[in-house]
Amino acid sequence: MSKKSNKMAEPKATKMDFNSAFQRTPSVIFHVKQSMEDFYLSDDTLEQITKQMEEEMVKGLGKDTNESAKVKMLPSFVQALADGSENGTFLALDLGGTNFRVLLVKLEHGEKPEMDSQIYKMPEEVITGSGEKLFDHIAQCMAEFLTRLNMKHVKLPVGFTFSFPCQQDRIDTARLISWTKGFSAEGVEGMDVVSLLREAIDRRGDIKVAIIAVVNDTVGTLMSCAYDIRDCMAGLIVGTGSNCCYMEKMKNVELLPGDEGDMCINMEWGAFGDDGALDIIRNGYDREVDCASLNKGKQLYEKMISGMYMGELVRLVLCKLTEDKVLFDGVASESLKTHGKFETAFVSQIERNVPNGYTALQNILHNLGLGALHSDCEIVEYVCEAVSTRAAYLCAAGIAAIARKIRANYPEKEELEFTVGVDGTVYRKHPTFAKNMAHKVGQLTEGRGINVKFALSYDGSGKGAALITAVAARLHMEKGKGEIVGR
Ligand code: GLC
Repeated sequence: MSKKSNKMAEPKATKMDFNSAFQRTPSVIFHVKQSMEDFYLSDDTLEQITKQMEEEMVKGLGKDTNESAKVKMLPSFVQALADGSENGTFLALDLGGTNFRVLLVKLEHGEKPEMDSQIYKMPEEVITGSGEKLFDHIAQCMAEFLTRLNMKHVKLPVGFTFSFPCQQDRIDTARLISWTKGFSAEGVEGMDVVSLLREAIDRRGDIKVAIIAVVNDTVGTLMSCAYDIRDCMAGLIVGTGSNCCYMEKMKNVELLPGDEGDMCINMEWGAFGDDGALDIIRNGYDREVDCASLNKGKQLYEKMISGMYMGELVRLVLCKLTEDKVLFDGVASESLKTHGKFETAFVSQIERNVPNGYTALQNILHNLGLGALHSDCEIVEYVCEAVSTRAAYLCAAGIAAIARKIRANYPEKEELEFTVGVDGTVYRKHPTFAKNMAHKVGQLTEGRGINVKFALSYDGSGKGAALITAVAARLHMEKGKGEIVGR
């Protein structure tokens, strides 16, 4: 794979001429440009990554190849999208980051769902402690929420959005394959998280619920979006982590029996590259970020894209440029030298505020103990843009691979148009991520009879999870198994 070509995918809005009154010497400009070269991906490289992702998808779906595949292509057991007939009151649980959310969702025949919710912090010692402590904490939050709503004794159907890679063999069981995103609670990997939650609920003995469905956040995002937009066929998250799901033809899902209909596949694309496939484009900063993480050698694609790592990548580059004496007069503050201090939210704030001048950026740097001149700001802005643009382009390669894969499922159609439902803080808050990604997807799918559209998906973990639970409950009833009463 050739990493560089003449057609550099340089971030568009960069002022690489530094054409302000505060010009740097040509050697500084040259040095900064050189240092950031490793973040540029040529169109040829992106095409290559798209092809590799497509191959990985086929490998993950294949019976004989799944075991060695890094992109696991996990069946979600969501086969039907909502049709507007869903009805009832549901409890939705959402665990996937440093917050745990409990939501009460009322669905009424296609009306806008009514929701009430509460956010609970997941303390570090809970995330990295014992599994029992983690699930006890979740059960306690549920009990508090239900007490507040005076619903502790109502047997509500529950949809559990658990945003980690899980092997499922039905909609209401999920065996955690491995933790991601800084979680490491002991004794959970390899276990069914629904059973662990039921046990925690039983230990308390004061709440009555029936856990009907466990879903990945990408799947909830797709479901939530499909409720409003009928041609929605994929769900993408670019937040703390990054992942995508899409509707695949059952006949291509070799690990499952049956050829009829569709299956929503949770790709777990974050693990793309864990077999070395991305080594040619990973740079020293990527390796440093990986080494400092709890899951070294894992989720390498995610670590180049998502919010948990983007700010840290920028911080490492800024440290290096300071060491090279082209930034901050060669003096790094303690904060700049500290892991995690340069938040991904800063990257979004910096790039959003640049058209209004550098005051916001100077404030951020000031709070990090850095006195920044205009010329420093230009460099910081440039670094942020290079890192976020690379993330958007890499994400685009993944989406283009999915688009090509879906396209192949509909050879009879002259043109295939579909929507990707998207959620996640990076996608929502970064000023150019969405635009850069959509633009690159357009390029990578050009001339292939595909038109990919993107739509913000609202509350996949609440509305989406409730819809999935409602559909699961309906199918259960239709199969003549009677009303769901849990267990
Ligand atoms: C991580 C998880 C995945 C989730 C994604 C977005 O990649 O492994 O399950 O969908 O983060 O939250």
